[in-house]
Amino acid sequence: MKKLIVLTGSGISAESGLKTFRETGGLWETYDVMEVASYDGWERNQNLVLQFYNERRAQLKDAQPNAGHTGLVELEQYFDVQIITQNVDNLHERAGSKKVLHLHGELTKVRSTGDPFLVYDIGYKSIKAGDTCKKGFQLRPHIVWFGEAVPAIAEAAEISAQADIYAVIGTSLAVYPAAGLVDYVPQTVPVFVIDPNDISFPGYRNFEFIKEKAGRGVAILKDRLIQQFK
Ligand code: APR
Repeated sequence: MKKLIVLTGSGISAESGLKTFRETGGLWETYDVMEVASYDGWERNQNLVLQFYNERRAQLKDAQPNAGHTGLVELEQYFDVQIITQNVDNLHERAGSKKVLHLHGELTKVRSTGDPFLVYDIGYKSIKAGDTCKKGFQLRPHIVWFGEAVPAIAEAAEISAQADIYAVIGTSLAVYPAAGLVDYVPQTVPVFVIDPNDISFPGYRNFEFIKEKAGRGVAILKDRLIQQFK
């Protein structure tokens, strides 16, 4: 089976009612990103950061995967699909995608501030100041904040290098190192980009732009790929 690698961003979850980050009305317009999604912000005000992610978790509980997520699951019948997502939601998994690599962490997990390998599944529950790991350290969201390392990036780069077909869905590609993953995709590999808005894509690279929201865009992609590659 051909390897279809799909890099997703917050746009794929927009039709599920979750906000993107940089659009008008996006999360970073309502919140100061450096206050809620950086280690300095965490040091300044843990309660604010915990509340921000508690709200995101509560919202995720009520959200459902949309046609974009389920369309990618359907593609597993024809291709070896690996998703690399910048999203911290679990909508790919809940739709049924088998292989999902999270670059920026997961909302439904928390980890110890004293031992990064102590990670706990908390589902949709809230955490507060004073909630600790078994070693007594404060728990924090299992999220990659600005200025922090992205532990999964090396694996994501290797996966990207092995693609037979590559798709980029619902991301402005504004944030590195995730935005640089497409540089690892061999030049001969066809790249499809799904986004309802124009995004800036590396000029050196041939790609096909499907200017649609993820739900419809993935349906179009599915037809195209089955026609062209099966
Ligand atoms: N379907 C597909 N794409 C959409 C849709 C939709 N229904 N609605 C919006 N989009 C597109 C926007 O046009 C935009 O290009 O999704 C993209 C969202 O871009 P950003 O808001 O920048 O979000 P993202 O690229 O996921 O951000 C990357 O930034 O703050 C961090 O860690 C956070 O993982 C996040 C990272």
